[in-house]
Amino acid sequence: MGAGFRDRRMSAPLIRMHDISKAFGAVRALSHVGLSIGEGEVLGLVGDNAAGKSTLMKILAGAHQPDSGTIEVGGQAVVFHGPHDARGAGIEMIYQDYALVPALTVTQNIFLGREVLGAWPLLRVLQRRQMDERAKALFAALGLRVPSVSSPVRELSGGQQQAVAIARATGFDAKLVIMDEPTANLGAPAIAKVRDTITRLKLQGVAVILISHRLEDVFAVGDRFIVMKHGHVVAAREVGDTHADEIVQMIVTGADPRRSAAPADPKP
Ligand SMILES: Nc1ncnc2c1ncn2[C@@H]1O[C@H](COP(=O)(O)OP(=O)(O)O)[C@@H](O)[C@H]1O
Ligand SMILES: [Mg+2]
Repeated sequence: MGAGFRDRRMSAPLIRMHDISKAFGAVRALSHVGLSIGEGEVLGLVGDNAAGKSTLMKILAGAHQPDSGTIEVGGQAVVFHGPHDARGAGIEMIYQDYALVPALTVTQNIFLGREVLGAWPLLRVLQRRQMDERAKALFAALGLRVPSVSSPVRELSGGQQQAVAIARATGFDAKLVIMDEPTANLGAPAIAKVRDTITRLKLQGVAVILISHRLEDVFAVGDRFIVMKHGHVVAAREVGDTHADEIVQMIVTGADPRRSAAPADPKP
């Protein structure tokens, strides 16, 4: 391996999405969209409803496949056929509805798709107990609380369900955690927990993409904004180089006032 190749690899961003397009029937959800994120970077992805934020992140999490465009992880091209592939590359997503299974316990939700259970009933009982213990340790380490790891998730409050979704996404060595509107419908204490979680992930070198209508959350814990509208990326801004009025203006108009060129959504 030549030094130039190694240098290029080392300077590659953690994740790079390039020229991603996606349509649902006649709806063009994404048109030639790209973004990059580095290790430990916290990106606020903002924009009006139907801007394409969730679709872009579902593509990164392997839940949707793009019609065209590429994804690189650490400079290597990847193709995700499903969420399992993205998880294998260290990408976890907390969905807006948390995507938990209400009838299953807290532990079962956390280990969903990860559990390794033996064939013997007695062995399975022991393995279930071990998973309960690991789940408890996970919540303790995260500073998150749930009443009991053996309660069905449907019995938990919204904030507690959010804690389960966070534990599931962050407890297993993720490189990037995507959070889709994690503070919608939460009270102030739960919002503070989410912010703490993002800050802790950042300190550990984990990157976070935060989709949020609450710009104050991005200003509090984020590094950079990406603004989307009508399936396009309108602008990017360092958190320290902008203010809420400018971000709101770009969300509403879909144009970057610092670019003298035409609006970001020229009709073909
Ligand atoms: N599974 C789907 N089937 C059909 N249309 C979809 C689907 N998901 C999203 N869309 C459409 O794609 C566009 C972008 O949606 P979305 O990514 O959810 O935006 P945002 O998260 O920014 O609100 C919207 O017009 C939405 O109705
Ligand atoms: Mg959305």
